Amino acid sequence: MRQRSGDYFSFAVGKPGRGLRSVFLSWVVLLGLILPALAGAQPNRALIHFDDQTRVFRIDAADMSYVLGINENKQVQTLYWGKRLSAGDTFAAPHSDPGLSSFDSSINTTRLDFVAWGGGLYVEPDLKVTFPDGNRDLVLQYVSHTIEGDHLTILLKDISRDVYVRLEYQADAGTGMLRRSAQVQNRTSAPLVVEQIASATWNLPRGSDYRLRYLTGRWAGEWNLHEQLIQPGKTILESRRGSTGEQNNPWFAIDQNGSNDQDHGDVWFGALGWSGSWQISIEQDEAQQIRVTGGPNTFDFGYRLAPGEHLQSPDFYGGYSHEGIGGASRLLHRFEFSSIVPHATNPKLRPVLYNSWEATEFRVDEAGQEALAEKAASIGVERFVVDDGWFGQRSSDHAGLGDWYVNPVKFPHGLKPLIDKVHSLGMDFGLWVEPEMVNPDSDLYRKHPDWVLNFTGRPRSEGRNQLMLNLARPDVREYVFQFLDKLLNENDIAFLKWDYNRNWSEPGWPAVAPEDQKRVYVDYVHNLYSILAQLRAKHPRVEIESCSGGGSRVDLGVMRYADQVWPSDNTDAFDRLLIQDGFTYAYAPGVMMAWVTDSPSWVNQRTLSLEYRFLSSMQGSLGIGANLNNWKPGDFATAKKMVEQYKQIREIVQRGSLYRLISPQNGSEHSVTESVSNDQDSAVIFAFLHSSQMLYPFPRIYFRGLKPDTMYAFPPPCHPLAPIAGFHSFAKVTLGQIQESREESSPRCRCNPACSPSTRKSAICPPSTPSAYFSDDDFTGAHSVISHLGEPHHAHRHLAGWSWPGDFVTLAALHAWSEKISE
Ligand code: GLA
Repeated sequence: MRQRSGDYFSFAVGKPGRGLRSVFLSWVVLLGLILPALAGAQPNRALIHFDDQTRVFRIDAADMSYVLGINENKQVQTLYWGKRLSAGDTFAAPHSDPGLSSFDSSINTTRLDFVAWGGGLYVEPDLKVTFPDGNRDLVLQYVSHTIEGDHLTILLKDISRDVYVRLEYQADAGTGMLRRSAQVQNRTSAPLVVEQIASATWNLPRGSDYRLRYLTGRWAGEWNLHEQLIQPGKTILESRRGSTGEQNNPWFAIDQNGSNDQDHGDVWFGALGWSGSWQISIEQDEAQQIRVTGGPNTFDFGYRLAPGEHLQSPDFYGGYSHEGIGGASRLLHRFEFSSIVPHATNPKLRPVLYNSWEATEFRVDEAGQEALAEKAASIGVERFVVDDGWFGQRSSDHAGLGDWYVNPVKFPHGLKPLIDKVHSLGMDFGLWVEPEMVNPDSDLYRKHPDWVLNFTGRPRSEGRNQLMLNLARPDVREYVFQFLDKLLNENDIAFLKWDYNRNWSEPGWPAVAPEDQKRVYVDYVHNLYSILAQLRAKHPRVEIESCSGGGSRVDLGVMRYADQVWPSDNTDAFDRLLIQDGFTYAYAPGVMMAWVTDSPSWVNQRTLSLEYRFLSSMQGSLGIGANLNNWKPGDFATAKKMVEQYKQIREIVQRGSLYRLISPQNGSEHSVTESVSNDQDSAVIFAFLHSSQMLYPFPRIYFRGLKPDTMYAFPPPCHPLAPIAGFHSFAKVTLGQIQESREESSPRCRCNPACSPSTRKSAICPPSTPSAYFSDDDFTGAHSVISHLGEPHHAHRHLAGWSWPGDFVTLAALHAWSEKISE
C-alpha cells in the first residue's frame, strides 16, 4: 500500500486537492527449524464496493472487512469492522441511532466514522473549527465519493458553510491494514481556525468487556506494556512534547473478554503516523460504545487556515486480527515492511553495526576510531558508526550542537582517512547527527539566537544544555537541509543516526503573526519530514536511524523515512528483554536496533556473559556498542561466532513472524520468543532464564506458527544453512552433552558437503529420536523442545550441578538447527 508521494504524512497547506538477582541465570536456547519447501501465498487484492441502493461501502482486504454507509442524515456511519465477511453478507441501508434521551441525542450515540463538533456533540470530535464571526458549529454531510482500486475517498461538507472534509480510506491487501486520514479545506472567503483535527475515529462493535493495551515509558525505561479494562469514560494516550515521546507511544490494541492467549481472539489495533504532539482518545460512551479517535494533540492547538488552504491530518492505521495480540503485532510488522519503511516492499536487512558511543562517548578521534574499526571488522561487523563528538567544539554535551564542521583537532584531515580505512576493512560508514538542536555555546546560536523555539522576553529552558531549533522556520529548515546535504556530498556516508535529545519548551515562534504561531506544531513536523524526504531522494543510498535519546521518536510517521530505530539507551541485556518485548507489540524486530554493550552495564552494574548479551540483541537487529579495546582474545572469538551465527538467522529474525512463547512481562523468570520464516519452513527460538529462584525446571516450550502435519528435526551444523566451523560451540554447556552422546545414532543427519570433516566429526547431530513430529495436537501441547532433546530434568540437573561464580551465572546457549525430514 504505497501512496502517491507527497500525500502521505504531509501535513500540508495549499489549495484544496487530493491528497500508521540474587541468583541470576540465563539459559538461552536458539533453535532453528528448517524445512525445504516454499509456500508463499499471494496476497489478494483489496476490494472496495459501493451499493447504490443501500449507500453502503464495503472494504475487504486480507482477513478484514470494514463496512460503512451514508445514513439518512448524510452522516458517514460505521457499520462493521472485524473478521472478513463472506461474499453473501449484506447490509441494509444505515439508519442513525435515535439517541438515548434528550440528554444524549442521536449524534452522540450513532457510530460515526468522522464527526465535527456541532449539533450537540459531547463525544470526542474529529474536527473543531472557529469562524471569524464567532460561529463554532460545524455539521458535516456526505457530498460525493470516489473509489480507485484500494482507495476510497469521501467528500463531506458543512450544512451551510464552504468547509469541506475529504476522508481517505486505503486498504492493504496483504494485511488488511486500513490507512485513514482527513483533510479539511477552507473554501470560504475568510480565514478560520482549526482547533482540532483527528485523522479518524474507529468504532468497535458494541460491548462492555474490552481491554486496552498500550505502551508507556521514560528515558532508559521505554516500552512498558500496560493492560486495563476499558471502563466508562475516556483514556487519553498522548504526547504534548512536540515530538512522539516515550511517555506514551501512539499505538493501541483492544481485545474482548480479556483472553491472555497470545494467538487467539479478536484484536482491534492501530498506530498513528505522526511525530509531533499527538493524542489517541479511547472512549466508552454512555451507550457502552468504544470509540478510538486519534490525531495531533488538541492541547495548545490552533491552525489558521486562510481561504483556499487545506490542512491534512496525519495517517491513522487500523487493523484487525482474529489471531490474538500476537497476530495483531505480526500484521503490523508485515505492514511496516510492505508499506511504511523506505524501500518497502523489499527493504534491505539491517547490517551488523558497531557504534562507538558507549566505548568513547565524546572522546572520538581518527586514531581511536580507526583502532576500533579494525577490531569491529575482525568480528564481522558490516557498518562502523561514529557517534557524538566528531564536530564543532564538542567535547561534552555543553557545546557544539549546531556547528556541523568536522573538528580539526580530532580529525585533522577531515573524515576521509577514517572513512577510507573503514571501507578498506570491508565496512560502510555511518555518522551521528542531531540536526534539530543547538547548544547556546555554539557559533550557530551566537549568530542566530532567534532560530530557537522561544517566547519573546521569556526564559529559554534547556534540556541536556541544548535548545530546540524552530524547524518550522524556512531559514532553519534550509540550514539543516544544507548542512546535511553538504556532509553527505563531501563524505562517503552510508548511514546517519539522527538523534533528538530533548523535548519542547516555550514553543513560541515570534517571527510570525501571533495568530499563526501555533502552526509550529504542524509546520515543524512537516519540515522534518520534508528534509528527510529530500535527503533520501538526493542520497538514495543513505540509510537513516531515528533515535531520540533512546525510543522517544518511534512512530509510523518517521518510520517512513527511517530504516531503523533505536528503542532505548538502556542496553542492559536483561532489561532489554522487557524493553524489546514491549517494543515488538507495535514495531518490527527488523527495525529494532539492539547493541551488545559492556558488562557490568552502565545502567545498573549488572554482569552478564557475552553470550547472554549477544543472544538478547540477536532477537532484533544486531549492533555492537562495547569498548572493544577492553576485550580479550576469547571475547573476540565468541563475538565472531555469534555474529556469524546471527547472519545465518537474521532474515528469519528480522522478517519472520514473531511468536511470544513465554513473556518476560510481570516478573516472569523466563522469556522465550520464536521467529518463524514467512514460508514456515524455518524458525529461530530464543529462550532465557533469568533471575531464577529455587531452581525450578524450565517450563515446556510450545512452538507456534509451524505447519501442522509436518516433520521438523534438529540437525545442527550439518545443515546447509549452517556450514560454519565452530557453529556448535554456541552450545557449549547444558544440553550440548546430551546431543553429543547421541551423535553416532543419527542416521538421518544430512551433512552439507561444505562442512569440513572436523566440523562434521564434532558436529552435534540429531538425537536418536531425530525429529519432532508436530501434529495439530502438538500445537496445544503434546511436545516441547526440551522433551525432544532430553527430559526437562536434564536441564535442571545440569544447572544444579553448576558451580556458581558468585551471584550471577550465565549458562550458554543451546543451539540446534532443524531440518524437515521427508517421510
Ligand atoms: C543519545 C543517544 C545515544 C548517543 C548519545 C550521544 O543519548 O540515544 O545513543 O547517541 O545521544 O550524545
